[in-house]
Amino acid sequence: MSVNSKIIACNWKSYLGVGESISLAKALAVHSKKHKMRQRIIVAPSCIALYKVGQLLRGTQILLCAQNVNVESNGAYTGAMSFDSLRETGCKYVILGHSEVRSGKSLGIAETDRIIADKLRTCLKEGINPILCIGETLSEKEAGLTMKVLRRQLITDLGALHDMDSNKIDLMIAYEPVWAISSNGPSKSPDPAEINDIIIKLKKLLSSEFGHKIAPDVKFLYGGSVDNLNISGYLGQSSVDGVLIGGMSTNKSKIIGVLGK
Ligand code: PGA
Repeated sequence: MSVNSKIIACNWKSYLGVGESISLAKALAVHSKKHKMRQRIIVAPSCIALYKVGQLLRGTQILLCAQNVNVESNGAYTGAMSFDSLRETGCKYVILGHSEVRSGKSLGIAETDRIIADKLRTCLKEGINPILCIGETLSEKEAGLTMKVLRRQLITDLGALHDMDSNKIDLMIAYEPVWAISSNGPSKSPDPAEINDIIIKLKKLLSSEFGHKIAPDVKFLYGGSVDNLNISGYLGQSSVDGVLIGGMSTNKSKIIGVLGK
């Protein structure tokens, strides 16, 4: 995969209000209509901005993503985001298992691997493509547990893949070391070569656990303190299919600066 055709996924978290999300979406839509970008660009606004941003991006090559979803398709789930409404917004992807969701920082309740696995199963059934985030904390890394943690997350969260046809899956896995995420302290961007090595191991693990039928189609992203200065180092790695960007993706001039022309 050439660097120019890799995936750039933007996680706006709750950084932007509705008005700011609309303004950034308009700028991205204008850019995308003027320039034929070869990358796959994905934008995940907050759930309250999703519908309007989806309308603004319609007819562009930018794809819409939600930041989370309920485990059920619809029903009596106060405060939840249903799959049915996601589909109405034109959403193609959903982020699952983000570390802020796993830790309880985002929703006040920590999502376990079991919950994430159930959501992933519903995603596959409903035809919404999951971007599964996995990653170790600093203390896990320092204890030498990185691959053990990633293995547990990958195998449990992807349990539903055992029952699926390979051709139905447009799955992405974002390796996001928790300690590298910009909101967790001073920006610590890992060495791109180390990320490449970990993703190579993850690809082998996926292939041994879920078979050669599924593994080659799965795309691997890197996320954590990606900015306009270090992005090419990550995208230049052979095993990295793209990046998941948080903070920087909400800065109009920086994000437009890294998109293809
Ligand atoms: P960051 O966030 O780019 O601000 O580090 C990445 C993420 O949390 O997905």
